Amino acid sequence: MSPDIITAPVRAMLVLGTRPEAIKLAPVARAMAGSPLFDPVVVTTGQHREMLHQMLDLLQVPVHTELDVMRERQQLSTLTARLVDGLGEVVRTERPDLVVVQGDTTTALTGALAAFYEHLPIAHVEAGLRTGVLDNPFPEELNRRLIGRMARWHFAPTPRAAAHLTAEGVPEAEVFTTGNTVIDNLLWVLAQGTGRNLFESDRRRVLLTLHRRENQGATMRAMGRAMCRLADRGDVEMVVPLHKSPAVREALLPELSGHPAIRVVEPLGYVDFSATLAACDLVLTDSGGIQEEAPTLGKPALVLRTTTERPEAVEAGAARLVGTEPEAILDAAMRLLDDPAAYEGMATAGNPFGDGHATDRIVAQLAEDFGADAGPDRGVVPLVASRPEGPGSYSTA
Ligand code: UD1
Ligand code: UDP
Repeated sequence: MSPDIITAPVRAMLVLGTRPEAIKLAPVARAMAGSPLFDPVVVTTGQHREMLHQMLDLLQVPVHTELDVMRERQQLSTLTARLVDGLGEVVRTERPDLVVVQGDTTTALTGALAAFYEHLPIAHVEAGLRTGVLDNPFPEELNRRLIGRMARWHFAPTPRAAAHLTAEGVPEAEVFTTGNTVIDNLLWVLAQGTGRNLFESDRRRVLLTLHRRENQGATMRAMGRAMCRLADRGDVEMVVPLHKSPAVREALLPELSGHPAIRVVEPLGYVDFSATLAACDLVLTDSGGIQEEAPTLGKPALVLRTTTERPEAVEAGAARLVGTEPEAILDAAMRLLDDPAAYEGMATAGNPFGDGHATDRIVAQLAEDFGADAGPDRGVVPLVASRPEGPGSYSTA
């Protein structure tokens, strides 16, 4: 069946404000920009500043509107209020056909809210992740549940995430299992082969990132001390790209600075970060995105948290949820460095988060639904009458 003639591409507003949102919406922006069916309008909130700016090249779409809300040590209440206000105005002025948000940040929550207040449909990328603990991670678990009440399209990365949504009463017809767009982006960036790996020696290479609010303070300081004990082994080189958050820096810098085997660096651009991840032996992290990327590259990941909304990696054997207690973290890391069989088991467990085609599925679904929903009063001419050729729904089964 041949596509209908396109006279009015779908105006999709992509709202992003933090590092992971830029990384995970970048392939969607690129795909929409390369399609005659879509007119992507990128709005950045500036929830992050430097860490967002260093990711914007990935989008390959110019930023249409830039808010500048970041304040040092921003409180969630102030950030939320400023974002609802700012985004409300942008959405009213631009009147997109839909608003796309990603994940569970304050930017994503307020982007959805601003769209909802204007009766605009919302597409939620990376929908359905749940720990089941409302305040852990804080405030992300609440954010994603709230976005789940507002969205019209729920793009779940895994069958489990999709099942969470239907169990909460979201109609099955609105839930699509796609894989995670982070994999699409990672494969795209690595294929370019331009990244610089930050490791400098042939010692065992450990990559550490920490930033979560619920870990900040004494817990994070204790984790920092545990990292020094790990580095004291003498056969380890640790690279730590440090989040810009002052609370993270206050906790970690006094503990990690000066250790000869630990290199603390500013946040890396994605091209260099992915090259560094690809070159490491072991990942220690409380990051969400890195839990997805590490198994893709066969890097065992120890998750330094008490909960995870990504149990798929743990169940597959690619990641271990080791908690935040220093002794438990040390034991787990030492074991992986000393026990080749344990290491190999994790390194070869595989990646449950997608096949690199999540974006194709998301964009195809939106195109299909806008075609189906189009009518004279919407000003959108039908797009494609049938789903384009391409991979079907992603399943780990
Ligand atoms: C936010 C998200 C979290 C996500 C993380 C990704 C919320 C509630 N949290 O947490 O889900 O995992 O981003 O990194 O949305 N800062 C800078 N420059 C930057 C970025 C941050 O100086 O480029 C500093 C600011 O002082 C800011 C602080 O970091 O106040 C914290 O940033 P914020 O976005 O509030 O929280 P994150 O911990 O980054
Ligand atoms: N990342 C990066 N540079 C860094 C650290 C992380 O590009 O110095 C990328 C990483 O590959 C992942 C994303 O940032 O895709 C994760 O961001 P973060 O840990 O800040 O947020 P979360 O995923 O926990 O929401």
